[in-house]
Amino acid sequence: MKGLILSGGKGTRLYPLTYTRAKQLIPVANKPVLVRVIEAIREAGVREVGIVVGPTAAEIQDALGDGSEWDVALSYIHQASPDGLAHAVKISQEFLDDDPFVMFLGDNVIEGGISSLIRDFADKQWNSQIVLKEVENPSEYGVAKMRSDGSIEQLIEKPKSPPSNLALVGIYMFDHHIFKAVNDIKPSARGEYEITDAIQWLIDQGYMVFPHIHRGWWIDTGKPTDMLEANSYVLEEITPCLHATAAIDSDSSVDSRVTLQAGAQIVNSIIRGPTIIGRDTLIENSYIGPFTSIYNGCQIRDCEIERSIILENSRVTNIDSTLRDSLIGRNASVKRSGSKPSGIKMNLGDHSTLWV
Ligand code: DAU
Repeated sequence: MKGLILSGGKGTRLYPLTYTRAKQLIPVANKPVLVRVIEAIREAGVREVGIVVGPTAAEIQDALGDGSEWDVALSYIHQASPDGLAHAVKISQEFLDDDPFVMFLGDNVIEGGISSLIRDFADKQWNSQIVLKEVENPSEYGVAKMRSDGSIEQLIEKPKSPPSNLALVGIYMFDHHIFKAVNDIKPSARGEYEITDAIQWLIDQGYMVFPHIHRGWWIDTGKPTDMLEANSYVLEEITPCLHATAAIDSDSSVDSRVTLQAGAQIVNSIIRGPTIIGRDTLIENSYIGPFTSIYNGCQIRDCEIERSIILENSRVTNIDSTLRDSLIGRNASVKRSGSKPSGIKMNLGDHSTLWV
């Protein structure tokens, strides 16, 4: 069994963060989503992994290298333009050869890993297995229409009137028959080769496609609100740990659900978990509330933060009100202006949002 991770595309819904960074590299609980995907695949016993990359290839390659850090062998597959998930499979045929494979979208985070799915697929003679999850907003995903016997009748990509609330999770298993499908289908109305159309092709040709209904949580981290939700779920799951080189002074209070990474420093502050504070980050005279991830090299002084993600090397200083439900990029600076005339000053990047 091989693995295929899709990490091309543009990530427009996460602008401005994704102007300068691949969306799959944005961390959730201080670990890039893409690394979480690699670890899930590795834990399922798959070691040979192809990764489809687009315009952010250099950055992804820089972050992941040959994969040895995660005990997998990574091969990079370059997609010239984001022509769809089925197109990504098509260009990966040489790497995948005739082996069955698991395809994982590089921006999906899922509870409980994929080991049992892979075991199921390996044990059965199925041509494909897809993962479905009941959601409240099916129009935003691929949607499955089921027959009364539990088999799949139809898959439709982002339908205006969804036939069910069963969304396609970004994890798929295929045998080599999928290559016939991706080579036969035509682009959809939005100009992409859709994986839903390719799977529909398998169903229509009588191949065995089986659904697995996922009962745990699942997040497609397409939008900032999704990132915050995924962050909360993952923080609840991780086992807290205080690194030996992290320091907490005697005026601080850090509860048992907090993770402090190497060199983190807590001075005169209250930290409530589940929360993670990154490498060499300083928290001083502050309150950091639950569901917050502050990445490496940040400085947080004289402020209160809850349910937020702050990326590396950012500074948040002396803010009056609690910073909540916020996503702050790298090397950002948020501070109170002491100078007159008073008022809010901004220096925001394109497509930024500020709530005042
Ligand atoms: O997350 C689940 C959903 O993922 C499914 O329900 C949909 O059926 C499926 O089409 C997909 O929808 P999205 O709109 O979320 O796909 P997105 O464009 O965000 O791409 C998903 C991942 O695949 C992302 O990491 C980028 C990568 N990608 C995307 C395209 C279009 C590629 O590597 N190449 C591509 O051509």
